Amino acid sequence: MTYREDVEGLDASILMHPRVWEASGHVENFTDPMIDCKSCKSRFRMDTLAEQISEKKKKKILRELSENLNDDNLKNKLSEILNSDDSLTEKFTAILEDSELSIKILEYANCPTCGNKGQFTEPRSFNLMFKTFVGPVESSDNAVFLRPETAQGIFVNFLNVQNATRQKLPFGIAQIGKAFRNEINTRNFLFRTREFEQMEMQYFVKPEDDDKYFSEWKAKRLEWYKTLGMTSDKLRYHDHPEDKLAHYAKAAVDIEYEFPFGWGEIEGIHNRTNFDLSRHEEFSGKSQKYFDEQIKEKYLPFIIETSAGASRSFMAFLVDAYTEEKVNNELRVVLKLHPKLAPIKAAIFPLVNKDGMPEAARKIEADLRPFMKVFYDSKGAIGRRYRRMDEVGTPFCVTIDTQTLEDSTVTVRERDSMEQVRIKSDELLTHLLGEMKK
Ligand code: GAP
Repeated sequence: MTYREDVEGLDASILMHPRVWEASGHVENFTDPMIDCKSCKSRFRMDTLAEQISEKKKKKILRELSENLNDDNLKNKLSEILNSDDSLTEKFTAILEDSELSIKILEYANCPTCGNKGQFTEPRSFNLMFKTFVGPVESSDNAVFLRPETAQGIFVNFLNVQNATRQKLPFGIAQIGKAFRNEINTRNFLFRTREFEQMEMQYFVKPEDDDKYFSEWKAKRLEWYKTLGMTSDKLRYHDHPEDKLAHYAKAAVDIEYEFPFGWGEIEGIHNRTNFDLSRHEEFSGKSQKYFDEQIKEKYLPFIIETSAGASRSFMAFLVDAYTEEKVNNELRVVLKLHPKLAPIKAAIFPLVNKDGMPEAARKIEADLRPFMKVFYDSKGAIGRRYRRMDEVGTPFCVTIDTQTLEDSTVTVRERDSMEQVRIKSDELLTHLLGEMKK
């Protein structure tokens, strides 16, 4: 966002007027189908049940379902799903998403907690928003919601930002911040949590330009992960079929990453049309129209949304970067994070803790610190210091040795190649900044 002239930043509030969530459709539609096990009382989100059942069990359940279905219509639907090229989990999920087949498959499914078969209740809708109260009285009149997405804060501030910044279409408003969802089953570390960080951008365009910018952002966002070093083969698009689109979307695509537990969405790109602005206009009674100076007309722009989970994407970067390799017959664990993502950019080591080396190293550390996160380490053998930095993904280690005291040069060791170059200490900052830009 900071590198683009056409994107502004925003930090909207987490608690907004409850009518915002009525206008957005979240009160009515932001629900998950939930099922309970009658035996052990465990609760599950039906659309993610497949993730919690082993491959072997899934095969057995599908076999039993196929053998026991009598209705021809359902049999046809099932064979269409089973004959698709999808993975077993995707097939299982497709069956759970079908209102008729889902009831049938639950008769043969085992509860992931207690293992009992056919014990699930019928699915019920469960709203994912966390509710709280403004003021001392806990009444429905005072109820507010913790935001389940950062997007709505952008929509309701659209004209404030546009007027203040004098942006013209097309332009974007970006926001990073916490979102909260009362997920029934949190899973897989940062993948599904109840409190997570989103980074969303809403790009406002002329209505007739929506398809063009949807395609543009779809390509740009995939490229973003690749330029930050994520393995290309582990990234793919998942286009949403028309009948599965969210209530606000004309088109939607997910960017998925292949985690060790399977493919999972890390970002969604959506064509939200003018749904949100028209709903906020209707519910607030205030015009949300943009004045187009060129044609001297007012209209509601269309919105292309790029909605990424910062915590979920970070987990993908972390998994992708984790490497174990043999170096001189020893295991080296190294986090090959792109330098832009590495939490520590450079480590500064005095070779020994005497002869003026710590003082020279401290001076280099102080010179670099205003520009990047650095870490000073003088403890243990140099090899062990390198390994510690490899494990946390520090791309550069700078060593101050006897030669530094003679000619003001230092060695810079690059994490992945482990190659060392000797450079002048007064050129160190330029060298590191240049390396990090690559
Ligand atoms: N404004 C649109 C929106 O919020 P979404 O697909 O519901 O769309 C966008 O969420 C992204 O937020 C997802 O691609 C994912 O990266 C992240 N996300 C959603 N739910 C999450 C959860 N429970 N835990 C962690 N990240 C989550």
